[in-house]
Amino acid sequence: MISVVRGMRDLHGNELAAWQQAEDVIRATTAAFGYSEYRTPILEFTELFKRGVGTDTDIVGKEMYTFEDRGGDSLTLRPEMTAPIVRAAIENNLVRHSPTTRLWYLGPLFRYERPQKGRYRQFHQFGAECLGSAHPEADAEIILLAMETLAGIGISSFRLEVNTLGSPESRAAYRAELVAYLSSNIDALSADSVRRLDTNPLRILDSKDPADAEVVKGAPRLYDYLDDDSKAHFGAVFGILDSAGIPYTVNHRMVRGLDYYSHTVFEIVTDALGSQNAICGGGRYDPLFAILGGTATPAVGFSIGMERVMLLLEAEHGGWTPAAGPDVFLCCASDAARLPSQLLALRLRRAGLSVVTDVLRRSVKAQVREADKLAAQVMVTLGDDEMERQEVVVKHMASREQRSVPLAALVDEVMKDLKA
Ligand code: HAM
Repeated sequence: MISVVRGMRDLHGNELAAWQQAEDVIRATTAAFGYSEYRTPILEFTELFKRGVGTDTDIVGKEMYTFEDRGGDSLTLRPEMTAPIVRAAIENNLVRHSPTTRLWYLGPLFRYERPQKGRYRQFHQFGAECLGSAHPEADAEIILLAMETLAGIGISSFRLEVNTLGSPESRAAYRAELVAYLSSNIDALSADSVRRLDTNPLRILDSKDPADAEVVKGAPRLYDYLDDDSKAHFGAVFGILDSAGIPYTVNHRMVRGLDYYSHTVFEIVTDALGSQNAICGGGRYDPLFAILGGTATPAVGFSIGMERVMLLLEAEHGGWTPAAGPDVFLCCASDAARLPSQLLALRLRRAGLSVVTDVLRRSVKAQVREADKLAAQVMVTLGDDEMERQEVVVKHMASREQRSVPLAALVDEVMKDLKA
């Protein structure tokens, strides 16, 4: 037997129906905020992520599915969506055509991580990116869009954590202080953090290693090194969140795992999913356009991990709501009715109804069992007697009440039962 690839999942049945409902909420909420969908290819040049996400990040260093194609190009299955969206915006001049460009996306991503509950090698993100504004209203809009979507999907056990990384200049001053402090405690740091001391010392701040966390407790605070503009920007974001009644906490140690951020960063976290506690990550990434060779363009966005949202939905609601069955099961009661019953099904489908027919040539009894199993609302039966009288039997499955109706009135009669 050939199994599914480790860390990847099939989606079907009631779970898939719940995903589709969540996707409907995503479409409605993004439309309400004026965001348009954007779809990029699943493969990009490897260079895009190396430059965009940063070579010292876990994503680029250890987690990418990278291969050489037959033409010798190094391609990568996208591990995140922000770099592809910015690539597309630069390539298609999106921001020049419209000064603020608001985009959303939903699709599969690939990271070679150790699989566990809530962490997969193929997973899906819904995300949004607001391109072109350096102002705090854009940061707040993005946070509100993420929060409104999660609430609309029907989950509530999450909270918002925010932080600011300030401008690149103020961060540089802080970085020097932080490295000095961490170097004086180097013996207490994990091996990973010792390595990061040279390459990406800020990441040590949100290390999950208990030894690192102990050292970090005494570390200087980034916020104290920020310039006035950075603090004012952060304060303005708070002001909007406060006015909108959105609760949040400031997590001074949050730095996020990708290199492109500046100013506001945020995560939406939950206690209900064990160690995979982040359901959304995002922030402002003003440097990214220039890093990818475009005109400097401020931007802010987020990505929500769909699998984690769906796990939370399942946990909060005690399972999946069963998907609705078909409107009609069309039961064929004789050999001669086989073709006419298929044509009747087509007539009902063209009237907008969902109809399942028997294609196994089973007995009427077996077909009734199937109609119940599928939770069909109405069963329509056509046999020799009915054909002779130009009638069908319409049965309301929940009440088990049935009646003969003229063939010509079929659609109207079925509609009556569906409303009942
Ligand atoms: P990220 O924090 O790497 O950010 O991922 C965002 C979310 O994707 C996480 O909070 C989590 O819910 C989900 N996620 C990540 N990896 C996995 C995995 N292996 N299995 C299941 N879910 C996962 C970004 O990707 C940035 N592009 C966010 C962003 C958008 N920043 C600005 N704009």
